[in-house]
Amino acid sequence: MEIPFAESYKIKMVEPLRRSTRDEREQWIKSANYNLFNLRSEQVFVDLLTDSGTGAMSHYQWSEMMLGDESYAGASSYFKMKEAIQEITGFPHFLPTHQGRAAENVLFSALIKSDDLVPGNAHFDTTKGHIEFRKATAVDCTIDEAYNTTLDHPFKGNIDLAKLEAVYKNNPVEKIPMVIITVTCNTSGGQPVSMQNIREVSALSKKYGVRVVFDAARFAENAYFIKMREEEYVEKSIRDIVLEMFSYGDAMTMSSKKDAIVNMGGFIGMRDESLFREASLYNIMFEGYITYGGMSGRDMNALAQGLREGTEFDYLETRIRQVAFLGRLLRDAGVPVQYPFGGHAIFIDAKRFLPEVPQEEYVAQTLAIEIYKESGVRAVEIGTILADRDPNTRENRYPNLEMVRLAIPRRTYTNNHMRYVAAHIINLHEKRNHIKSGYRITYEAPIMRHFTVALQKV
Ligand code: F0G
Repeated sequence: MEIPFAESYKIKMVEPLRRSTRDEREQWIKSANYNLFNLRSEQVFVDLLTDSGTGAMSHYQWSEMMLGDESYAGASSYFKMKEAIQEITGFPHFLPTHQGRAAENVLFSALIKSDDLVPGNAHFDTTKGHIEFRKATAVDCTIDEAYNTTLDHPFKGNIDLAKLEAVYKNNPVEKIPMVIITVTCNTSGGQPVSMQNIREVSALSKKYGVRVVFDAARFAENAYFIKMREEEYVEKSIRDIVLEMFSYGDAMTMSSKKDAIVNMGGFIGMRDESLFREASLYNIMFEGYITYGGMSGRDMNALAQGLREGTEFDYLETRIRQVAFLGRLLRDAGVPVQYPFGGHAIFIDAKRFLPEVPQEEYVAQTLAIEIYKESGVRAVEIGTILADRDPNTRENRYPNLEMVRLAIPRRTYTNNHMRYVAAHIINLHEKRNHIKSGYRITYEAPIMRHFTVALQKV
């Protein structure tokens, strides 16, 4: 008999989940103005809104919490975190921040000016928000293959070197403070970037004198894919792959809520001391003194431990195989999902799932709402609402892909939960022809509207 794959951990503490009826959910989502962020967590059975800060810490991490040093300056917890960051990323300088977007805020305050261009592979929404907030422009240079959800390509997060070079050639280099490589690329479906591509982007950027910055939220998952898919790395350890990846960069921003498996935290890693000094000023203004930067000592301890656990092969294998388990159940039943499966989430192609709902009626949001009503599973729209309006024309930006993301929290749900999610979505897919219309916006904020948007049925 074939031996099934089994998780590399066991469960010591549990949290009850509440079931609900379809009638209750229809009422709740209406009261929430059809915005899934407005639901209360008790109204959700399996919460796949995000894998950010929602993972389960290990007993080693919890024991580190008890050892936290809460001194304002020079806490031992700061040095624990510094040591772990140096060991794992190789960056000699670092600043703690309370989460990933705070790291962006601090670093970009030092580096980005108005009218700058910041090329990259499909920047995450907070990254783009922090660029546009400074009246600069994010230029998407992702390879075209990323936008065909059925095409099998091992590294759909890769940057197209020709697109990148065009940005470098056609603009004064002083207007390009950095290129951002997001590993894995969340926006294109949790898709990895190959080491070869990282190396080539770095070489090209060096030639033009442009800094390479990693948006490293899911760097360990990216390293796992490099090991599994890039021949020369099969025998290398995750830690060695991570060190090589970061060796091609000048800085990194980190949301520790992902691959460092903590509920809150972030940091900036930097190679250059002068950049560290400049960023320190903003860190003190926005986050706190440079030896805590918005984090408590206990959280810095848990983060240091989480970075080590998050870069262990057995952990990553369990994690990424669970995501693929859900992906396979859906794909085998004919549900249109981004393929190959991403590292942290399964992305459903909403235009192919609901072909009759117009893109102008927010097709991906419509699907996320239907999934919630059907199952109590909360997913998130990665489509037109998230893409926001063009800052100049104020027109809706219609992205190439309208997706619903099922993000899997780390070490949190079992494969039976994955079966539950898949069965409901497969049932909905069978009834999809009944869904013909979507929603219109009744309220939206001027930037990052998806969090607070209010909607009404068309
Ligand atoms: N970069 C990437 C690639 C991200 O996915 C996120 C957050 C951030 C930066 C910002 O980090 O949340 O700690 O401030 N992504 C979460 C998500 C919110 O659901 O994908 P943060």
